[in-house]
Amino acid sequence: MVEEHFIPEKYTKSIESGSFTWSSPSNIALVKYWGKKANQIPENPSISFTLDNCKTTTSLSFSKKEDTTSFAFEVFLDDEKKDDFKPKIETFFKRVEAYLPFLKEYHFKIETSNTFPHSSGIASSASGMSALALCLMSLEKELSNTNISEENFIKKASFLARLGSGSACRSLEGDLVVWGSHDAIKGSSDLFGIKYPYQVHSNFKNYQDTILLVDKGEKQVSSTVGHNLMHGHPFAQERFKQANKNLSDLISILKDGDLDKFIALVESEALTLHAMMMASMPYFILMKPNTLKIINKIWEYREKSGSKVCFTLDAGANVHVLYPEEEVNKVLEFIQNELVAYCQNGQYICDVIGLGANKI
Ligand code: DP6
Repeated sequence: MVEEHFIPEKYTKSIESGSFTWSSPSNIALVKYWGKKANQIPENPSISFTLDNCKTTTSLSFSKKEDTTSFAFEVFLDDEKKDDFKPKIETFFKRVEAYLPFLKEYHFKIETSNTFPHSSGIASSASGMSALALCLMSLEKELSNTNISEENFIKKASFLARLGSGSACRSLEGDLVVWGSHDAIKGSSDLFGIKYPYQVHSNFKNYQDTILLVDKGEKQVSSTVGHNLMHGHPFAQERFKQANKNLSDLISILKDGDLDKFIALVESEALTLHAMMMASMPYFILMKPNTLKIINKIWEYREKSGSKVCFTLDAGANVHVLYPEEEVNKVLEFIQNELVAYCQNGQYICDVIGLGANKI
């Protein structure tokens, strides 16, 4: 499938004003997306668990305007006007304009709120961009005469979300989503995320993710800058090969429910992501001392208890603690007794694999 596929036919209907609301979750990658080509095309395929509790709700109100030469919108976070969000959304609008030709015809009010604490270091770009893409798709659906199928609606929403933030294209559906073309994964594409199409063992049902908030400060290096540092990175090509192999290996791990192999693959992915950051030029470190303390505590606990708990990291200092549902009580006790001390203000968020976005 090519980009042109997402250019709509001429709209036949017209709407003066209205509003749509969607809620969309965050996601946590098991095999990481790190490095991209032009037009938000990933250098390697990635796969993530869709989360459930960490989500963004976005309302998009729109009204027709006279002047159709430029974009017009305002953004609010928790009822507070957020002009600093505008450049990212303006860039998004520019990237998707060819696929949503109505954008300059409306004035938009974008009102958004997150279930997770503001500036918790949890990326809101995945949940935020996917929620916004879905609101825009709801408007497009009203404008067009042809009835878009639910499958194509989600596919185009994912395609648009990707143009806002790469990982956002993995937030529309659950519970495992693949983005990036991979030979062994049927239907996978660089252009949008797809539901993982193969068998998944019951060990992964309701898999838990407790997010330990280690550092809530502003990141020193944004993901976008980090991705770009993979250009000319001495280990880039090997890393992209490794991600492809890890995704291949994950197919049988997910099928067999092999938690030991799962742990090894997921933790290696997390550490490799950060190793790439440390080996780029300029180099940078997003982990904090408490990130390492937590990792070591998890290894110690696993060693002595035989637990199948493991960790992963995104582009920040927070630690995602992953474990099977049947270990909930034990692992939460361990977190409370031994890990909370390393969280900023003792904060953590209990989440679980979820099923994707919802229209409200
Ligand atoms: C480390 O999707 O935030 O979380 O496409 O520039 O918006 P942009 O980047 P973004 O990168 C996420 C990187 C990651 C790994 C992952 O989610 O796969």
